[in-house]
Amino acid sequence: MKIAPSILSADFAQLKNEIKKIESGGADWVHIDTMDGHFVPNLSFGAPIVKSIRPHTALTLDCHLMVENPENYVKDFADAGADIISFHIESTAHAHRTIQMIRSHEMKAGIVINPATPVSAISEVLGLVDLVLVMTVNPGFGGQSFISETVSKIKELNTLKDDNGWNYEIEVDGGINDETAKVCLEAGATVLVAGSYVYGASNAGEQISKLKQSVK
Ligand code: DX5
Ligand code: ZN
Repeated sequence: MKIAPSILSADFAQLKNEIKKIESGGADWVHIDTMDGHFVPNLSFGAPIVKSIRPHTALTLDCHLMVENPENYVKDFADAGADIISFHIESTAHAHRTIQMIRSHEMKAGIVINPATPVSAISEVLGLVDLVLVMTVNPGFGGQSFISETVSKIKELNTLKDDNGWNYEIEVDGGINDETAKVCLEAGATVLVAGSYVYGASNAGEQISKLKQSVK
């Protein structure tokens, strides 16, 4: 199981140190939440932050775009040094084209579904993506409670992966703690995003170990 702490809950004035903390704590990826104030009712940060982080870590930069028309940002994120770009199926009419665009910039492509979106909405692209991100909260804010109705979609994606010989990662995002992590593991998740659980405690590194322990 990979752990991808979300820097949305980090201290932005100390970003370099905040990344070092999770790196030494055993994080596998850095999860970067971009919000545009349109697709979600909040603003966060974009490609310039990815560019500033890039020289300070060798960890995979896992960029979660919560923006309308994500295709408009692919080049900027590639130039900034992103490794993975995931975008929401609800955010564009051109999912197939956007996946191709991400791939043509030599990044991995992920597709994201909101809690109210069924797996069937992404069935046509499941064979093309490197990652499927199942939102386990409604996107836009850190620190929300896990929506347990989403667990059946993790299971469904896991079954589809086995049945079709696909090999996408199944990432879960929102309300992850040492309890919900177990539920997601059992359902077939392979990557856990955790924001407030990691950065909300005094020792971020220790929180990662606790999370890893809970899914052993
Ligand atoms: C929510 C973001 C999440 C967020 C998770 O829109 O996509 O990545 O940072 O925060 P927690 O782990 O606190 O629910
Ligand atoms: Zn996220």
